[in-house]
This record gives sequence, C-alpha cells and structure tokens, in this order.
Amino acid sequence: MNPTPADRPAFRPEPPDLLAGRGIALGVSGSIAAYKALALTSGLVQAGARVDVILTQAATELLRPLAFQALTHRPVVGDLWAPGSELAMDHLAIAQRAELLLVAPATADRLSRLALGLAGDALDTTALASTAPLVLAPAMEPNMWAHPAIQAHVASLTARGAHFVGPWEGRLASGKLGLGRMAEPETILDHLRWLLARQGDLAGRSILITAGPTREPLDPLRFLSNRSTGSMGFALARVARDRGARVTLIHGPVAQDAPVGVATVPVERALDMQAAVLDLAPACDALIMSAAVADYRPAAPSERKIKKQPGDLRLELSRNPDILGSLAEALAEGSGPPPYRVGFAAETEDLETNGRAKLQRKGLDLVVANRVPASFGAGEHEVLLLTPDASEALQGASKLAVAAAILDRVSQALGASPGTGTDVSVPRSERA
Ligand code: CTP
Repeated sequence: MNPTPADRPAFRPEPPDLLAGRGIALGVSGSIAAYKALALTSGLVQAGARVDVILTQAATELLRPLAFQALTHRPVVGDLWAPGSELAMDHLAIAQRAELLLVAPATADRLSRLALGLAGDALDTTALASTAPLVLAPAMEPNMWAHPAIQAHVASLTARGAHFVGPWEGRLASGKLGLGRMAEPETILDHLRWLLARQGDLAGRSILITAGPTREPLDPLRFLSNRSTGSMGFALARVARDRGARVTLIHGPVAQDAPVGVATVPVERALDMQAAVLDLAPACDALIMSAAVADYRPAAPSERKIKKQPGDLRLELSRNPDILGSLAEALAEGSGPPPYRVGFAAETEDLETNGRAKLQRKGLDLVVANRVPASFGAGEHEVLLLTPDASEALQGASKLAVAAAILDRVSQALGASPGTGTDVSVPRSERA
C-alpha cells in the first residue's frame, strides 16, 4: 500500500499541565522551610491549579497569610475560629473540594497530629474530613526525623496511603547537614502530577525510552560524544508518565532530572545502552529510541591517560552496534510479541525519503524525522511522523507537543486502554 502523503503541516499545542484546573489544598505548618511554600504556591498557581492555603498558627508566626493570598487570589485560612472565615462557616468546605491535600512543610508536630487523627485546628480537621490523597513533605532536624516516635507515625501514615516526598539530605536551617530538608518545590509539584496521572490512555502500559548522548571513552579522562541534551526523551518520559504509563528511561549523561515516577537507568557507552535495551525491551509494550547513540567508539580505549606526543594523533574507531536495527533479531528469539518500535532520524533534507528508508531498514513501526539543525535543542520543531501507511507533518511544535503526537501513535497502535475493555494488568508482551 502506498503511504498517504503528509497533509499541510499541523500546529500542535502542548499537552496541558496535569495540575491545570485541579483543586489542591496546601497546608503549611511552622517550619522555617515554610518560605519554600510560597514558591510551591506560586508554582501551583502558574500550573493552573485552584489552591486553598491553610496556615497553622505556627506558620503564621513565620509568614503572613497575605503573602499566600496575593499569590492565590483566594482567601487563606489561618484561624479556624476567625469570624467570617470560610471554615468557621463550613469546616468541611476545603476538604470537600480538594482533589489532593498537600502538607508542605510537614513538621514533626504536624506529622504526629495527622498520624494520631487529632482535630485541633483547620489543617487537622481538613485532613480528617478529606478523602483526597494526602501528600507530605516533611522538614525537621535529622534527629527528630530519625526518632522512633516520628518513624512510627511515618509508618502509620504510609500504611494509610499517605505519600511522602522527602525529606532530603542536605543543609538545614540550623547549619547542620543531614536528612531533614524539605524537598524542592519543583519536585513536590511533579510528585502531585504523578499522583494525578494514573488514569490516562496509556495506563497499564510499559514504555521504554532512551535519551541523551552516549560517551565513548578514549582514556580515563576523555571521551567522544555529541551535543544531545536528552530533552526530547525526557519530554517523552514526562508525557508518557502523565498519560499513565509505567516509564523506564535509559539515558546517557545529561544535565536534567527525570520526571517523578519514571524509573531511570543511567548509562555511558553505546554498548551499555544496548545491554540495557536488550534487557528491558522484551517486557515493554513500546520502545522509543530518542537517544543520539554514537555510531563509532575508539577502537582501543587506553586504561591510562594518553600523554601528548610530538606530531599528530590518529584515532582508530570501531562501529558501534545499531541498537534499534539489531533489536528485531534479538527479540525474535523471545516468546512474546515484539514491542512497538519508534526510531528518530535527524535529517538536513529529504525528510520523507530518508525517514522512510530508515523505517524499512530498521524494521520500525514509526520514524520521527526531524529537520536539523533547526530542531537541535530549539523550542520549535519541524517533524514528520512516518508509519508504513501514513505521514503526519508537524511544524512549530514544542518538544512536549511532539512527544504527545508520538504517544498518540503509540497509544493507537497498542489499542484500547483500561476501562475500554482490554485487560492491561498484564504487560502486552506477556499476553497471548
Ligand atoms: N540508533 C541506534 N543505535 C545506533 C545509532 C542509532 O539504535 N548505534 C537509533 C537512534 O536512537 C535513532 C535512530 O537509530 O532512533 C537513528 O538512526 P541512524 O541511522 O543512526 O540515524 P542518523 O543518526 O540520522 O544516521 P545517518 O543519517 O548517519 O543514517
């Protein structure tokens, strides 16, 4: 069958932030880390969430309610008994509309109160009355966090389904180093997205993504590599996670953190990436190879630093294996059906012809042909999505938008998602 030619390039908007339009109750208790709750509130509002802030009495000693009100443009609850406050009239109001209840920072006192189910103030009563998932970002001195009483409360809250984000190791307000720092606002926000993500069209699917460059060592200090930032693969991981998939990201050396909830396998050389892909691909539903794998590696990396000599230095390079290209053969030996396979093609011209050649040569289900150098690290991409029987052109799309378009194809190919009739509790590769 002749493939349908690409229509006019479509503009594709970014997928919405999962926090947009969601009701988040943010309880702030009295740790000096409460200053980070302002950044957290701002991040929630910028993501489009509807934020109800509840400050404990101790928190109001550190920060004024007005600061939170200015960020949320909504009343802030401090005192449960203040005449005219929403909770004085209806003390369940916030509990009922919250889709998530986040307590950040959560002090030792607050964790203990929540674990015991006390009902002494607005945050206590909201937590008791809410059926929304509870997310806690503790902040306290390391000795307090390690205390058996607090650890028993953490265990009891965890057993009841509470999600802990942190605490982290690091420098504390006291000047000490240890485990007790509140997690950073960006991480907490991403944790909330992960909790909200469970119900997408890729729920129950297992998706393996590769990202970033590989590093091919010359000696213990030097290597050959490329300029890939890994951003495309990280965008894919985020969108797949947001749509409910279980995501594993095999990545070369990059300067970014994986989205919360995404399992990571850091690698250096193409050979390491190949081993990780071969290990994990048989159990996944889809493999998306966005990594910029080095095609060559130094033939004989030196175990010692190569010292300079008079004159030129000639390097001999060996071909690296083609990870995607060799996969069909490797998977054919396994029992289950092969995963849906997506490759990338960076092209300066003839996107369609070159992309289609790659689709065939590597036996892929989808090739994402990028025009370079325009797409290299840039915010706007010119991309062709090529399947054996169709082409889709995208222009001016961000990485997140391109990722969403790729995952639409993956989702269509994998078929119905949970709730529409197909049992996806077992990975596709294990189903008959
Ligand atoms: N790839 C791979 N193993 C390699 C090299 C690349 O699996 N050793 C994957 C990449 O992750 C990407 C696709 O194959 O998905 C790119 O194919 P490739 O033929 O390397 O394309 P280009 O880098 O564009 O190379 P060329 O233009 O030289 O053919």
